[in-house]
Amino acid sequence: MPLNTPIKDWSNKRVWIIGASTGIGEALAKQLSHAGARLFISARSKDKLELLAGALNATRALPFDMTHEAAVAHAAETVFAEWGGVDVVVVMAGTYVEMRAQNFDLAAAKHQVEVNINGVLNVLAPVLPQLIKQGSGHISLVSSVAGYSGLPNGMIYGASKAALINMAEALLVDLSENNVDVSLVCPGFVETPLTAKNEFPMPFIITVEEAAKAMVDSFARGDFEMHFPKKFTRILKFLRLLPYTLYFAAVKKTTGMGGKNARA
Ligand SMILES: NC(=O)c1ccc[n+]([C@@H]2O[C@H](COP(=O)([O-])OP(=O)(O)OC[C@H]3O[C@@H](n4cnc5c(N)ncnc54)[C@H](OP(=O)(O)O)[C@@H]3O)[C@@H](O)[C@H]2O)c1
Repeated sequence: MPLNTPIKDWSNKRVWIIGASTGIGEALAKQLSHAGARLFISARSKDKLELLAGALNATRALPFDMTHEAAVAHAAETVFAEWGGVDVVVVMAGTYVEMRAQNFDLAAAKHQVEVNINGVLNVLAPVLPQLIKQGSGHISLVSSVAGYSGLPNGMIYGASKAALINMAEALLVDLSENNVDVSLVCPGFVETPLTAKNEFPMPFIITVEEAAKAMVDSFARGDFEMHFPKKFTRILKFLRLLPYTLYFAAVKKTTGMGGKNARA
């Protein structure tokens, strides 16, 4: 029994993707538009959004910075007024700065929290009451496998994504009282501008088209958690079940990080 109502037919579905100017969000917008959905696409880059909207059917650009509460609220009013409601909201936008304890940067840390957590809250503020009032719809939060457990380079980013995992779990329980569906997206490595700056090897990396297709397939199955590619995400899911001594030893062995004096 799926946790969500499967979405197999996207014809005329009203979909708002926040974080659709590049990467996985852009690829998802293309696939859903081709499947017949009507779209509002958001991010900060007005030009990129307008170019994409012009190339897709029934798609409109709605640029804003999701860290600006009033701008997000205004955009949400536009979406709800234009469509009289919304069927699916995907909160895709996020930011990543590689950080370890040795190069801790307070400003960069706070910025990641501001976008990856507070930005999501700015979206939830207008979207939750609307979905609850409708008694229908679906909200999807995009987290990461980096949120499963602590990994080197992922300090702050991983913590912000862990918060979204917890938030989505709580939302699923709460919103099941209102017939509103919730999904949690945990991608592994995907080739996008966000990962282009990584200098370490990214195992099992996939394309944006593959990532978007995995999401579309998950929507069709009614999955709560959309995680991909499975051959990578299953390893990480197993690792987080291990006792900490084994977990830290495995992380040190696979990443080569931890130092010669590491206790693990
Ligand atoms: N790529 C991966 O390997 C990977 C793995 C796990 C999870 N993820 C997650 O997947 C999501 C999409 O990532 P991606 O790899 O596709 O990255 P991306 O290509 O950098 O896309 C990020 C999107 O978020 C938008 N955005 C960033 N800051 C924003 C802000 N303040 N306000 C509004 N929009 C903002 C960006 O557009 P503008 O710059 O135009 O605002 C862009 O559309 C992120 O949440 C990321 O954490 C990615």
